[in-house]
Amino acid sequence: MDVLEAIESRSSAKKFTDEVPSRARIEALLHAAARAPDHGSLAPWRFAVMQGDARALLGDAMVAALRERMPEADVETCERERSKAFRSPVLIAVAAAPREHPKVPEIEQIVAVGAAIENLLLAARGMGLATMWKTGSHAYHPAVRRALGFDDAEKIIGFVHVGVAQVLAPVRHADIGPVTRWL
Ligand SMILES: Cc1cc2nc3c(=O)[nH]c(=O)nc-3n(C[C@H](O)[C@H](O)[C@H](O)COP(=O)(O)O)c2cc1C
Repeated sequence: MDVLEAIESRSSAKKFTDEVPSRARIEALLHAAARAPDHGSLAPWRFAVMQGDARALLGDAMVAALRERMPEADVETCERERSKAFRSPVLIAVAAAPREHPKVPEIEQIVAVGAAIENLLLAARGMGLATMWKTGSHAYHPAVRRALGFDDAEKIIGFVHVGVAQVLAPVRHADIGPVTRWL
């Protein structure tokens, strides 16, 4: 599949099968991510790969964050929250670790991590895998960040679910007309 075909045919997975992508394939996705444009070669991305029981690290942290926000949350609500971490067989938390640099402002380092995630999504598409990029309010919660081993200066840019699609979202039409000026 060429790059344009991967871009044009990509859509998010709404539901994943239980099939677990191999370690080699996950590593290939991370390499693709780390090939993103990187001003100053700062490698501003950090990855935390979760599969199997390790997904509970995120599930439990999301429930703790929910309980803080909604102390009255019942068991069912908490379990629904926890289950979000188990939607896919592999979950990759991607964070930006921006640092002070005389020529590369923080925004450029964060945008580079967004580009890294898109590389990962497209590489997955090319390999026949499916993805879903999520954040949700817990991405910005310090306890969630810490539970995954990120420090307070690191910002989670996405939780990328990876696996084999059982159901894919329809491919979205991209309308460039209203957002483009030809000068
Ligand atoms: C930074 C970022 C965060 C996102 N967070 C969420 C999220 O928390 N929940 C969600 O349903 N979609 C989220 N999305 C959007 C989906 O990943 C997806 O792109 C969108 O639903 C459009 O579907 P498509 O990927 O099939 O075109 C996020 C996208 C980005 C770029």
